[in-house]
Formats: sequence, structure tokens, C-alpha cells
Amino acid sequence: MKFIIITLIASILPLMAQANNYTPKQYFEDRCDSCHGSKSADLNSPILWGQNKAYLIKQLQDFKTGKRPDLLMYETMSEIAKNMTDKDIIRVSEYIGSLSLCAYPAEKIEFPGSMTKGKAKASSCMECHKNWNPEVKAPILFGQKPFYMRHALKSFQSKLRKNSPLMNTEAEQLTDEDVDDLSLYFSSNPRCI
Ligand code: HEC
Ligand code: HEC
Repeated sequence: MKFIIITLIASILPLMAQANNYTPKQYFEDRCDSCHGSKSADLNSPILWGQNKAYLIKQLQDFKTGKRPDLLMYETMSEIAKNMTDKDIIRVSEYIGSLSLCAYPAEKIEFPGSMTKGKAKASSCMECHKNWNPEVKAPILFGQKPFYMRHALKSFQSKLRKNSPLMNTEAEQLTDEDVDDLSLYFSSNPRCI
């Protein structure tokens, strides 16, 4: 029995050491990149590169505690967050936030809506979304995938995503046409400005 336990500990220790030595870069590339990296353009999962660190931490905590559901991939994102420690969340968020906004390859995607109308409608969003505003933890929207933008706005509208009552109120007032115009406008703008 003792032998079995010692053998078990001996086999786990190197793994634990490996987990501790895991750099946030490796962690991201092994566990997140397939859905959030530069080769995930054909998926609707959001672009994270250069996103605000405090926003990323809040979202990961919200997935972990069940405050925010994953409505796109059958709760895969929630399961991933539940397996992260608070330290993992902070370290990987710091790493993602440090990636250059400009480095994410721009992709031209066909999407309905009007840029001109989107620009006019976006002025009310700018007080919170133009630049990172530490007061409100609002994410960067420029250069986000348009289908993800539409998904996020619809999720707030339907209150299936209710981890931000403030955004539920903002989205409630939008028509389907507004949602498309805004999604087109924000996603078509360069991510780095
Ligand atoms: C199998 C695909 C998949 C993998 C792997 C994955 N995610 Fe996600 N992630 C998603 C999807 C899908 C969403 C959006 C869910 C929704 O909005 O309904 C999401 C959303 C997020 C968000 C919220 C972004 C925003 O703009 O609100 C963060 C932060 C995030 N993921 C971080 C991570 C991290 C960190 C990892 C690696 C530890 C990871 N994800 C691995 C699919 C994935
Ligand atoms: C008063 C501040 C404020 C205003 C005005 C505002 N937002 Fe937000 N928005 C936020 C905050 C804060 C969040 C983060 C919510 C969370 O914690 O999940 C957010 C989140 C979002 C998201 C989710 C992004 C993601 O990556 O999942 C979208 C999309 C969005 N806002 C679009 C808009 C649009 C479009 C407008 C204008 C019609 C708007 N917002 C107006 C504060 C604001």
C-alpha cells in the first residue's frame, strides 16, 4: 500500500512542478488558443487579444461561478473556467491583456447592416467603450468578430446573459437593425487605434 502511495506521489510531483512552471503563454496556447487564437477566425468565439485585463478576470470569474453561461459552445467555456484556479485566471488574463491589439490578423467577413447608421448609433456607447474606462470595466469592442458582437447583444437583450444589468438595459433599447448596424460598425474598425 505504502509503495503504491509513494509511486503515486512520485508520478504526480513532476506534473505539479510542470503546472507551476507553466508560463501563461504556454497555458494560453495549450488551452485557449484553439478557440481564441489567431486561427479561430471561422469560429464565433470572441477575440481576446489585448482585451482589458480586469474585464477578462471578471468574465472568467463569472463563467466559473455560473453568473455567465456559455451560450455558444454548450457550456464548454464554463467547464474550462471551473477548472481554473484564481491564480490561473489572473495570470492568463494578464498575459492575454499584454498581447498587442494590432497583432490579431484582420479578417474581412460579410455581415449585414449599415456602417453610416452604425457609426451614428455608436456615439451613445462610446462614453464607456471608446477607451478602457476603469470605472465601468467595459470591454474593447473595436475589431471584435461581428457575429460574436451580435450574439453578445442578443444575449443581453434576452437576459440569457445577465452578468451586467447595465448592459441588459442598454441592449433592451436596440432593434434587430440597430444590433446589426452596431455589430458591423464596431467590428469593422481597427482593433488598435
Ligand atoms: C472550445 C472553445 C473554447 C476554449 C478552448 C476556450 N474558450 Fe473562452 N470562450 C469560448 C466561447 C464560445 C465563449 C463565448 C461564450 C458566449 O458568449 O456565449 C468564450 C468566452 C470567453 C471569455 C469572455 C470574452 C468576452 O469578450 O466576453 C473569456 C475571457 C474567455 N473565453 C477566456 C478563455 C480562456 C482564458 C481560455 C483558456 C483557459 C478559454 N477561454 C478557452 C470558447 C472557448
Ligand atoms: C454606461 C456604460 C456602458 C454603455 C453606455 C454601453 N456599455 Fe456595453 N458594456 C459595458 C460594460 C460594463 C460591459 C461589461 C459587462 C460584463 O461585465 O459582462 C459591456 C459589455 C458589452 C458587450 C459585450 C462584449 C463582450 O466581449 O462580450 C457588448 C457587445 C457591448 N457592451 C456593446 C455595447 C453597445 C453596442 C453599446 C451602445 C448601444 C453599449 N455597449 C453601451 C458598459 C456600457
